[in-house]
Amino acid sequence: MKTFDALVIGTGIAGGTTALRLAQAGLRVGVLTKAERPEESATYLAQGGIVFRGEGDPEALVQDILQAGAGAGLPEAARILAEEGPRLLQEIVIHTLGVQFDRADGDFHLTREAAHSTPRILHVGDETGKALEIALLRHPDQHPNIVLFPGHLAVDLITPEHHGAHPLDRYAPDEVLGVYAFERRTRRVHRFLARAVVLATGGLGQIYLHTTNPRVATGDGFAMAYRAGARLINMEYIQFHPTALYSEDEQNLLITEAMRGEGAVLKTPDGKPFMERYHPAGSLAPRDIVARAIHEEMTLHGYRYVLLDIASYRPAEFIRRRFPGLYHRLLERGIDITREPIPVVPVVHFACGGVKTDLWGRTLLKGLYAVGEVACNGLHGANRLASTSLLEGLVFGDRAARAVQQDFPDLDDPARYTLPEWVDTGTEEPDPALIQQDWVTLKHIMWNYVGVVRTRERLQRAVRDLRHLWLEVENFYRNTKLCPRLIELRNGLQTALVVARSALRNPESRGTHYRKD
Ligand code: SIN
Repeated sequence: MKTFDALVIGTGIAGGTTALRLAQAGLRVGVLTKAERPEESATYLAQGGIVFRGEGDPEALVQDILQAGAGAGLPEAARILAEEGPRLLQEIVIHTLGVQFDRADGDFHLTREAAHSTPRILHVGDETGKALEIALLRHPDQHPNIVLFPGHLAVDLITPEHHGAHPLDRYAPDEVLGVYAFERRTRRVHRFLARAVVLATGGLGQIYLHTTNPRVATGDGFAMAYRAGARLINMEYIQFHPTALYSEDEQNLLITEAMRGEGAVLKTPDGKPFMERYHPAGSLAPRDIVARAIHEEMTLHGYRYVLLDIASYRPAEFIRRRFPGLYHRLLERGIDITREPIPVVPVVHFACGGVKTDLWGRTLLKGLYAVGEVACNGLHGANRLASTSLLEGLVFGDRAARAVQQDFPDLDDPARYTLPEWVDTGTEEPDPALIQQDWVTLKHIMWNYVGVVRTRERLQRAVRDLRHLWLEVENFYRNTKLCPRLIELRNGLQTALVVARSALRNPESRGTHYRKD
């Protein structure tokens, strides 16, 4: 048995910040990540940067966040991010973690992205997330209060109501006291117990056919929280990033929005700019509008992609220095961005909804907290402003750590209950062909019916098909020995059902949720 004061599930910036702050406050923290290599996270892949401070901020930033959020963002959440962000960025990222952001003329170089009214984004070339994650991961290894468990995939949150051994435990408060986690190396499920559990499991992009998200983003946290009795909100608001490299891959290379911030222009395949026809801000319009405009152009004219052109607007030397990561990665694929445009398409990028929390990361279940992409505190409304997600992880990770400390004396000790070890009911060996085919079916349903443009008919079909698949997969799950791809499939499917149902229930087009009917 592994017992801690707090458990943090996930090692991106949100989980990393929460763990660090809890450890600094003297709590013993267990950090679980399903990735073999903990840097496999959305944080690591983030290119653009992290919002800092620009002219007119914090007020201007609050307005930009709310405007991008299409009237569904919570003003208090935006204000907290704008007011607490810069101090935490300096304290944690620059001083504690020692991240070296790009500078120009002796000061930080501030870049700009779509829907930002002013340059305010710090960056490390075009590999900001990588620099941050590497710095963050040094800490769990070094801090004496943190024990890191890589290769541990959370299976289910432990609640007395669902797992308690005594018949009266079902009358216990709605609370979470730990997690069952599958260890890849031993193929065993371990029981981890704690008074507080913090979900920082990231997003769900892998339930779609094309996404910028890492392979681990299979929606696990949403599904686990849902099964434990937490609430999910705003799940229909799935953000598409307008510019991912056109390819048949499932994980599409992100082409950072900062490239448009530095002057790149979107064009049709025959070289004509088109964004001015859709929005006065042109290629720098909010993401949802750009993604839909590209989709519209592709549908109307049968294009397989559109072009993103930086070569015509910036000198080669600038492009190589400002976008070194993309320059090299695209050159390996035969595209020289200093000389030619990049073929791009919109793909799934970010879940704006998630596990409902207050402004301190508290969910509706006692002892369960959620931070980062898996959480929804209202900050993003119906569409997230670029480069706010790293800062969100930092600010609300810090807040959740403070909430855990404050709540700690009132949280129940798991020792109050008899919470048994995991019992695996499945006896059959998992058949990889079945699991793979179910994944393919799930991804196609979501891509085709719950995509950039939605209709009632498509959404109804999605819900019906997903329900049918769910019955198959549940049956399969109960009878089969656990394996990571099966655990992820069940989670991905359950999360997909919530997304499709939320999209069907909401007839109003707003932000990322666009109903053609
Ligand atoms: C990008 O660099 O375009 C992605 C940044 C973000 O999604 O916030």
